[in-house]
Amino acid sequence: MNQVAAMLQVAKAQRANAVDIVGVASGAGAPLPHSAIAPDALIAHGLMPRLQSLGIDVTWHGYVRPEAGGAQDPLTQVQSISEQLAERTQSIMARGRFPLVLGGDHSCAIGTWKGIIRALAPATGPQRPLGLVWIDAHMDAHTPATSVTGRIHGMPLACLLGHGEERLTAVAGGARLLPQHVCLIGVRSFESGEAQLLRRLGVRVFFMEEVMQRGLDAVLRDAIAIARNGTAAWGLSIDLDAIDPLDAPAVATPVAAGIRATELVASLTQAACDPLLAALELVEYTPPQDPQAATAEIAVDLIATVLDCPSERRATARLIGQEYRYGAHHYEVLPVVFVRGRGVHLWDDQGRRYLDMLSAYSAVSHGHCHPRLTRVLARQARRLTLTSRVFHNEHLPRLLRRICEITGQDRALPVNTGLEAVEAALKTVRKWAYTVKGVPPEQAEIIACAGNFHGRSIAIVSMSSEPQYRDGFGPLTPGFKSVPFGDAQALERAITPHTAAFLVEPIQGEGGINVAPPGYLAQCREICSRHNVLLITDEVQTGLGRTGRMLASEHDGVRPDGVILGKALGGGMLPVSAFAGRRDLMAVLQPGDHGSTFGGNPLGAAVALEALAILEEERLPQRAAELGPYFMDRLRAMNHPLVREVRGRGLLIGVEIDVSRASARHACRKLLECGIVTKDTHRRVLRFAPPLIITRRQIDQAVAVIRAVLDLLHEQSRPA
Ligand SMILES: Cc1ncc(COP(=O)(O)O)c(C=O)c1O
Repeated sequence: MNQVAAMLQVAKAQRANAVDIVGVASGAGAPLPHSAIAPDALIAHGLMPRLQSLGIDVTWHGYVRPEAGGAQDPLTQVQSISEQLAERTQSIMARGRFPLVLGGDHSCAIGTWKGIIRALAPATGPQRPLGLVWIDAHMDAHTPATSVTGRIHGMPLACLLGHGEERLTAVAGGARLLPQHVCLIGVRSFESGEAQLLRRLGVRVFFMEEVMQRGLDAVLRDAIAIARNGTAAWGLSIDLDAIDPLDAPAVATPVAAGIRATELVASLTQAACDPLLAALELVEYTPPQDPQAATAEIAVDLIATVLDCPSERRATARLIGQEYRYGAHHYEVLPVVFVRGRGVHLWDDQGRRYLDMLSAYSAVSHGHCHPRLTRVLARQARRLTLTSRVFHNEHLPRLLRRICEITGQDRALPVNTGLEAVEAALKTVRKWAYTVKGVPPEQAEIIACAGNFHGRSIAIVSMSSEPQYRDGFGPLTPGFKSVPFGDAQALERAITPHTAAFLVEPIQGEGGINVAPPGYLAQCREICSRHNVLLITDEVQTGLGRTGRMLASEHDGVRPDGVILGKALGGGMLPVSAFAGRRDLMAVLQPGDHGSTFGGNPLGAAVALEALAILEEERLPQRAAELGPYFMDRLRAMNHPLVREVRGRGLLIGVEIDVSRASARHACRKLLECGIVTKDTHRRVLRFAPPLIITRRQIDQAVAVIRAVLDLLHEQSRPA
């Protein structure tokens, strides 16, 4: 390992408990020098004891000050401050400690980051660049040619990228950032010259509109990915004016409509414990405008959030960092590493216990590691696991029979994941349309519902109304139509002589736990029968007891022409799914029409058979029927101002949050901190789908925590 790598290793390992603070006693680059006393004010506000209470070994490394006498012009002062600061940050890094720089105005960033870049540069070998996430209302990318005021606090980013004022770009030997590793967040005030420069260089700017649209969490995640990608480490520079002045008024140049302070604190937990975070800088706090110390409180909170990395969390951070480094970023992942599960509980790698209120989107209805399932799995794993479907095995025949009995269908086609079962259904209904119904070749249509979720293959996203699932994946598959969910008349209007099938989830899960009006499915059944259109229900999430009946369509007394099952069919152990249908539909399939190497394998079939037996013997559908209304009543009885609606059936429950006041995603993070595992859908709805073995007492415990978290968010939300 070379010297730099060794140094980074030390810095990473020690970061949690070894922080050096440097104060910049200068506002030389800014219109008013108030920020020069910011470090003193933050120390007086209790920054040191707050960090010490987190177990951090924090050292005050002293001030960087303008030269005595104060006669220099601002440019000379900033140059001198930057040179001094660069030396400090470089030497702090070299000693394996974590630099925390308290501005000062934002011109100090020149010194902070040039020192860090130099610390990362190896004596020999390829350059190891620094990434930078710059959170700010402004672009700070002026050059003397584009600046109206000529003030240097509007120029540091341009200087760091090697543009503009020569004496400043030359600081620390001309060390510079590479634009592809730099991004800005929260920008809403800028001039055309600086915007042009950043655009020309290819710096990614997440303007405030994008933050509002996508949420800070998602934007920050993308920004960190940019700053980490191909770099040795990354830095975080926070200008407090990025925050909405309603929350943080004491800043040098406030700009309205910024990031909410609570959202920033919550989102920055992503940075906490990141082993590649090299340094933190926080600037432009102006104590004279902060008589109530509200902005100081936020500043201290932000710093504590980023630095809070107790030693036992380091291993967690390393694991998360590894997944981040080597995995594709196609999931929004909450910051917890689960290592064990039993019943309704999960444990993380630090031994903390959680109540699982999501059960892997209903796949773990039996509870984690049900002893009967682990026994069958282990026994069958020792006996026979896979032969392919060109041979018979001893468990599949019995599984197919049970699936037909449960669904009231004639034949079943086994596959692995839910989307494969949906694909099998789509192919089968199309072939039925051509060979039985007489639809002309290539003309078959399938009607699906707006807001559906049936998986994410190309054909399936072609049915989706969610832009993110479709955009960028074209050309999409033709032959699909969309109607509003819950509107039987719209279905009838959409049917043509070429319509093969109507595909519908009895309750839309991913779409937001949307429950159709009573009798909807029965009306659809009648309409489909009248027009010789197949009714196919996707019960991947709603089936197998989740809503209080074995199939959710039973609530409407409906027997569809085809049923798709998945998730809980594998007992939370293995992917086992199936498409079951009526005789004339399934009869269209000929050998070779469809197949899957693992579909119907004896290991999965043995586990699925046991899973179905447990469902019946432990009366899991009945439990959902009893406990679902109990849970929903308790949630409704909270009568909480942040809750717009509680809806669902059985133990598939959605709590719609008033998004003008709080985000369901933020609530999920807070619930996780309080030991409740769940996930939002589309930021609006908190979803609760616990294992069906949950007890009333556990539901009571969950409701108490949910109420406390919503109260906290309510307190933090501004009045509508
Ligand atoms: C209703 C529905 N259908 C299909 C699927 C796809 O299942 P899988 O993720 O196993 O492919 C899902 C997954 O959430 C689902 O909820």
